[in-house]
Amino acid sequence: MHIHKFEKVWLIFGIAMLIVFLSVLGVSAFYLGNQPPSCLNTIDPAKVDTTAPFDKPGLKKVEGKEWDYELVIVASMFNYNPGAVEIPKGSKVKVMVTTKDVIHGFEIAGTNVNMMVEPGFISEYVASFNKTGEFTIVCNEYCGMGHHMMTSKIEVVE
Ligand code: CUA
Repeated sequence: MHIHKFEKVWLIFGIAMLIVFLSVLGVSAFYLGNQPPSCLNTIDPAKVDTTAPFDKPGLKKVEGKEWDYELVIVASMFNYNPGAVEIPKGSKVKVMVTTKDVIHGFEIAGTNVNMMVEPGFISEYVASFNKTGEFTIVCNEYCGMGHHMMTSKIEVVE
């Protein structure tokens, strides 16, 4: 079978790219540990207020874990509880968020924390806060009339 020269070049290029992209994906997943959220942590959205740790939202110091603090936040129409949080500079924080009603967003502007918060699930992300200053938390999933007013803030202090 005769294959045109350009056709051959294109085939080799295509196969090479496939190998490159699969390698990037493999290294990212198995060597760097980038995995999609498990969605394994579930919660009854009707009982958020009485389910630990969401019965006491806020920042908690923890011992013997990979992170220094756990930040527990409850989202609901149209606010976050707590409305403001102070985090000591340089701490590693596991952010845990759930919602009592509809889907909300949870983005800490200026950081790489950006999660979708779904009823029945706990969204988690571990982040380090190494820069002092005020960071606004915004809802970036349209959730109703008050969506644009749904904010909270994190203050990273010395
Ligand atoms: Cu909550 Cu938009």
